[in-house]
Amino acid sequence: MKNMILAPSMLSADFGNLKKDVEMINRSEADWFHLDIMDGVFVPNISFGFPVVKYINKYAEKPLDVHLMIVQPERYIEEWKNAGADILTVHYEACAHLHRTIQQIKAAGMKAGVSLNPHTSVDLLEDVLPELDMVLIMSVNPGFGGQSFIGQALNKIKKLRAMADKSNPDLIIQVDGGVSSKNHKEIVAAGANALVAGSAVFGAENPEEMIKILKKA
Ligand code: DX5
Ligand code: ZN
Repeated sequence: MKNMILAPSMLSADFGNLKKDVEMINRSEADWFHLDIMDGVFVPNISFGFPVVKYINKYAEKPLDVHLMIVQPERYIEEWKNAGADILTVHYEACAHLHRTIQQIKAAGMKAGVSLNPHTSVDLLEDVLPELDMVLIMSVNPGFGGQSFIGQALNKIKKLRAMADKSNPDLIIQVDGGVSSKNHKEIVAAGANALVAGSAVFGAENPEEMIKILKKA
């Protein structure tokens, strides 16, 4: 598919040598840096925060796609912008006033994304869909890299693409979790146009080559 966006997840990068992995992504055919922020409350894991994102932003030559797996994400919108986020994605399940949060993200000058856990139906986005730049379909339960792809995500992607064709044809549908060279074509065929890949990229013998393979979806 033309213009498929590939965003390697830095959660699987080598944090002892982060600059090297940032430079590898800069050189590669990847489009964005996917940065997973976990608070130990919304998900059962803690990842990294502002100082690491600022450091990545200092060396990154591509947009930062920040995926917030935190409760009450509306508390930190300006801070993420200041840290370098270009796209800010919040979880549907973490927002009491999702519409307001989306407007705040856009007012801060970022693209706005909403992510759905595997159990959350795409139908729930109908009323905010025209406002969104991106929907992130989680194809694993968020919190960890290296899990297996949940097949039901394919039906959700198809349904969401049909909804978007009516109310937001430019919507980016991103898929995150268990994406690899074994399933990337099927995911894009279902209607996704952005893929996140962590362990598939950084666990590969040649990450740059794997990025090239995943880009040919
Ligand atoms: C999971 C994160 C993902 C994760 C993907 O909660 O949102 O971005 O890094 O890792 P893989 O590609 O290994 O499933
Ligand atoms: Zn993610």
